[in-house]
Amino acid sequence: MKVEIQISNIGESVELEETSLLECLRKKGIRIRSSCGGHATCSDCVVKVKSGGKSLSEVNFKEKKLLGNVYYITKERLACQVHSKKGESIDAASEKIEVEVVNLDP
Ligand code: FES
Repeated sequence: MKVEIQISNIGESVELEETSLLECLRKKGIRIRSSCGGHATCSDCVVKVKSGGKSLSEVNFKEKKLLGNVYYITKERLACQVHSKKGESIDAASEKIEVEVVNLDP
């Protein structure tokens, strides 16, 4: 399964690999703020899911603890906790997901 993430506010896209979305963004040279280094304690790495998302991992306990249990309203996720969903067959062989990075590093 190929999961392509379009970053709407900068016009770039990355393919979500085995690592977190935060790592994929960094690998591509997209500077996203992250003061906790990906340990889900700072909330700097927030991304807003603007469309798609069925092939992303479920919101986990660390995200709920930091952002609250309101994903269905805010559509905010922590890039350091977002992975592609594993072990599930998604009907489409690939999904395009659009997100907006809230805190880009200048
Ligand atoms: S990098 Fe700090 S919460 Fe994701």
